[in-house]
Amino acid sequence: MDWLVVFVGIIILIFGFVVFIGSPYVPSQKRYIKQVFQELYPLNSKDLLVDIGSGDGIVLREAARLGASAVGFEINPILVLISRLLSRNHKKIEVRFADFWLSNLPSATTVIYIFSVTRDMKRIIVKLQAETNRLGKPLSVISYGSKFDGLKINKNIGAYHLYILEPAR
Ligand SMILES: C[S@@+](CC[C@H](N)C(=O)[O-])C[C@H]1O[C@@H](n2cnc3c(N)ncnc32)[C@H](O)[C@@H]1O
Repeated sequence: MDWLVVFVGIIILIFGFVVFIGSPYVPSQKRYIKQVFQELYPLNSKDLLVDIGSGDGIVLREAARLGASAVGFEINPILVLISRLLSRNHKKIEVRFADFWLSNLPSATTVIYIFSVTRDMKRIIVKLQAETNRLGKPLSVISYGSKFDGLKINKNIGAYHLYILEPAR
């Protein structure tokens, strides 16, 4: 019985501590992701999508089904294991056990998916603009729910917003 309490306590701690460094785990809904990858940002096999905080990998798998490559950064080790297991049949998916704040985007990145809390949006756009400058090419950013203050929205579908970041000259 004691080991069960310890085990449940560890799981709660892992999921709980994430709240201090980013968004807690809430999965995106498959039917909306499908619509977004068709109508908001038509994804194809030339794309490399990066999900910042990839959870169970549902977004990565929808991207891979459309032929795109997909990389997820995930800080919760339990979700990393689950998403790797669920995505094991998709060769174009990579899940990195990493803190997004301390990571660089892959150089082939074309589009970034974010499902985060309003609190972190300012910090996220600073990080993504720095990465856009480093890569020296435009990047598309799909944000679910939260918006970036003062940044022009390229297109909307429901609670999904598409932004295009340009590298600074
Ligand atoms: C709202 S969930 C979104 C999950 C997934 N993107 C989706 O749409 O289904 C946010 C995820 O970000 C992860 N996360 C939070 N802070 C992070 C960080 N600094 N680096 C990497 N992942 C982080 C959480 O563990 C959680 O799984």
